[in-house]
Amino acid sequence: MLRLSSSILASDFTKLGECVARAEKAGVDFVHIDVMDGMFVPQISFGEPIIKSLRSATALPFDVHLMVQDPEKMVPALKECGADIVTVHAEATKHLDRTINQIKELGMIAGVALNPSTPIENIKYVLKSVGLVLIMTVNPGYGGQKFIPYSIDKLKELKEMCQKLDANPMIEVDGGIGFDNARDVIDAGADVLVAGTAIFKGNIEDNVSRFKLIMGQ
Ligand code: DX5
Ligand code: ZN
Repeated sequence: MLRLSSSILASDFTKLGECVARAEKAGVDFVHIDVMDGMFVPQISFGEPIIKSLRSATALPFDVHLMVQDPEKMVPALKECGADIVTVHAEATKHLDRTINQIKELGMIAGVALNPSTPIENIKYVLKSVGLVLIMTVNPGYGGQKFIPYSIDKLKELKEMCQKLDANPMIEVDGGIGFDNARDVIDAGADVLVAGTAIFKGNIEDNVSRFKLIMGQ
């Protein structure tokens, strides 16, 4: 099943709740929440208080993308904030297997993210344990960047690896996803499309409809 996850990093923060409610009404499937710590990536975005307050603004699942060093420290608090999917970077935690188990034990879906330059082989042994693999299609840290073309090959390789190992995680793409490349990433194996700029810049309803059309929905 194809899904659209709206990255609030590109939304109007003065009207955050309203932006999320509009995206929900327009038909997005997840709210993508980019947590940045100023260490794993240069910027600081938002953390627990904002996530918690947003919980009352929407019924959609929270798809939390942790771009933070040592993400395991944040995991219990995210459960309290109402997170549904928690994705950690393979590059940011020393004990990835343990962190995945920690997320699952709290009843959330565990995701693992890979920077563009990180080979998919690095997650081979945890592929069957995670519910989601996030392929970064830009270098993490900023919205509005250009899609990295070699991501298409990486997606195809990941899809093959999943089939070979009989693993069935959702495959999510994040960064520079727009109307020009949405079909290409779907054809290469993506199930969940994250979009920030392409949803929140301009008219949210029109943008979501355009994505839905490309997704055949
Ligand atoms: C980048 C973030 C993305 C970002 C996507 O580090 O993980 O989720 O908000 O934004 P766009 O769609 O604008 O590339
Ligand atoms: Zn993200």
